[in-house]
Amino acid sequence: MTPDENPFDKFLQSKKSKIFKNKDTLLHTYTPERLPHRDEQINTLVDILGVALEGHAPKNIMVYGMTGSGKTVTVKYILKKLEEKASEIGALVRGIYVNCEVVDTSYRVLQTIANNLISEWEERIPPTGLPTDEVYTKLIEILEKYGGIVVVALDEIDRLVKKSGDSVIYMLTRINESLKHSKLSLIGIANDINFIDLLDVRVRSSLVHEKVLFPPYNARQLEDILRDRAKIAFYEGVLEPSVIPFCAAASAREYGDARVALDLLRTAGEIAERNGESKVREGHVRLAIKRLEMDTVIEAIKTLPTHGKAVLYALYKKTLSEMRKGKRFSEIETTTGELYQEYLNVCYFLGISPVTQRRFTDFVSYLDEIGLLNARIASRGRYGRTKIIKLASDISYVEEGLKSDPEFGSLFMRRPVQTSLEKYFSSI
Ligand SMILES: Nc1ncnc2c1ncn2[C@@H]1O[C@H](COP(=O)(O)OP(=O)(O)OP(=O)(O)O)[C@@H](O)[C@H]1O
Ligand SMILES: [Mg+2]
Repeated sequence: MTPDENPFDKFLQSKKSKIFKNKDTLLHTYTPERLPHRDEQINTLVDILGVALEGHAPKNIMVYGMTGSGKTVTVKYILKKLEEKASEIGALVRGIYVNCEVVDTSYRVLQTIANNLISEWEERIPPTGLPTDEVYTKLIEILEKYGGIVVVALDEIDRLVKKSGDSVIYMLTRINESLKHSKLSLIGIANDINFIDLLDVRVRSSLVHEKVLFPPYNARQLEDILRDRAKIAFYEGVLEPSVIPFCAAASAREYGDARVALDLLRTAGEIAERNGESKVREGHVRLAIKRLEMDTVIEAIKTLPTHGKAVLYALYKKTLSEMRKGKRFSEIETTTGELYQEYLNVCYFLGISPVTQRRFTDFVSYLDEIGLLNARIASRGRYGRTKIIKLASDISYVEEGLKSDPEFGSLFMRRPVQTSLEKYFSSI
């Protein structure tokens, strides 16, 4: 080693990715500089919000669209550009983004807006402790002191309303009546268009002055988005030509969700890297699809109540025992009555008291609704009707999900015979 060489260089060199130039640009938190196929929405937002640069309050806007259609990224982008232009021309305009999935009470919404406008630490409003009315009065004072136009984006506004009601939206849509030197405008962002029905008529009419719709992306549009991102995320020539069209086509089937498309591309790159390969191929995307499907199933299982898990475990056990007898997975199904008997066994092993068959049927319907099983009604002639039930996703995903559960993990004494994740990884 020469005196110029640092022994840590070799360590860092060995850690350096051969696939990713900058993986962070594929994460959900990254805001890109360009948003392909959102020109129409950007132009509409600019038309509505532009008056803020002339000192007027823009109309309130509702932004709608399915998940992954670019609502959050576009609104964040537009608020940033609005602030940039305002400071360039010397206008007093602030854009405040509030994620109502996290900030989900009236108090916290008012507090977050106020604190965004306060620079002195000691003047900041505490996260709890004051009456909500007092926070509202303080917000009015703070806005007046600011003396400009404030555009507040309430992302996931539907969740806020479902959790805490619409009183804070009512307050914010009326706040301009108490302001002389400043004005506040709202951008509400929601997945669920029906949430409007939950609002009081007065709130509805003042919140929804303008509507901006974000339609789902098609495969071609997703390709453009991915190509743009791949240029900054991957080294040149690392992606085989079919990778991006394949990711785009798979996610177009998933309701045109750009988040799924980006997750697929990132996961495919990670799999290639973990396997020590220098190129990302279509095979890696196929594995990534399975990986993400498995993550979704595991997440869904995590959120189930105990009896939901017990019903699923019973179905898993029945399916597994049929597979061991040589039956094909796709042909295995059971009835409500048979599954209830298996469920009673599971409860016995877990030492918990079972629910009634009626409640059990509710759990079956719920599991059907969230896509963990398929249930259909079948007529059995003079014996009436019954439900035919089968697992909806790969049995190995269900196994992984239940195994990682503290209560159910102990039921897996020996490893069943079906495919495991390792097997997928070694199959490329
Ligand atoms: N036109 C686009 N150009 C570049 N990236 C995009 C575009 N649209 C969406 N994305 C990216 O796709 C991901 C999902 O977008 P975003 O979070 O804005 O969706 P959303 O409509 O807010 O979804 P949700 O309703 O689930 O919150 C983000 O990582 C975002 O950067
Ligand atoms: Mg969003």
